[in-house]
Amino acid sequence: MAAQILDGKALAQELRAGFKERTAALAARGHKPGLVVILVGEDTASQVYVRNKVAACESVGLYSEKLVYPADVKPVVVLDKIAELNADPRVHGILVQLPLPAHFDEAAVLEAIAAEKDVDGFHAENVGALAQGNPRFIPCTPYGVMKMFEKGGVDLSGKEAVVIGRSNIVGKPMALLLINAGATVTVCNSRTRDLRAHTRRADIIVAAVGKPRFVTADMVKPGAVVIDVGINRLPDGRLCGDVDFEGVKEIADWITPVPGGVGPMTITMLLANTIEAAERKAGI
Ligand code: GUN
Repeated sequence: MAAQILDGKALAQELRAGFKERTAALAARGHKPGLVVILVGEDTASQVYVRNKVAACESVGLYSEKLVYPADVKPVVVLDKIAELNADPRVHGILVQLPLPAHFDEAAVLEAIAAEKDVDGFHAENVGALAQGNPRFIPCTPYGVMKMFEKGGVDLSGKEAVVIGRSNIVGKPMALLLINAGATVTVCNSRTRDLRAHTRRADIIVAAVGKPRFVTADMVKPGAVVIDVGINRLPDGRLCGDVDFEGVKEIADWITPVPGGVGPMTITMLLANTIEAAERKAGI
């Protein structure tokens, strides 16, 4: 039997409808939520992501601004701007699009953002809060995945979960969220020996490796829930995920498509975090 689809596009629309009411309520009290997105350099994928983030803000009534710097900008220029934004009461969220050019100390930039405006959840203080099980801002992609589990009624407690990928943006926070939800979590990476032995045991697989169709049907236990975080471009220009959707959908119980799965949820949770930041500031 073919798996049921966890439809991120539909869930994103549902959540965004609720955001409009929250932003309107904030605006009525003089607190229009504001997000500033900083982009350094001309990376094409980053340009698309940033454009989509700004457009999504506008679609739910958030104020948003995009600041673009050339790839060779001095880091101090960006750090000074972050300090200015930290002090600006109109700005509730600050996001620096990653990756940054090689001459930047990425960690130093992320630490420069005020923790209460770190809507990406990448500041050490927010990472620590998540690790302790008291999250303040949850990184947007894994947060979106958790919302999809919730929507599908996927119970995580006591389940075997395998996360493939150990990035700070997806793999590590995803593992922490699954741990906090009571799953037994294994974090694999591209060097893991006998990856298939791990994935074959898993009730839940989250693939975030950045390799097209990396997870194949023979790696999946019948009845598993398979979440595909990958967005890869094939030589013919089409998008595909890290999971071989056609094969795996015949084995899994639940699966996310690409596009239309995790992707729309990432930006949706960025909006959620920005509104949350504004509500905290307004004392709501
Ligand atoms: N680059 C890829 N994903 C992300 C993300 O979620 N946030 C930021 N800031 N940069 C990214």
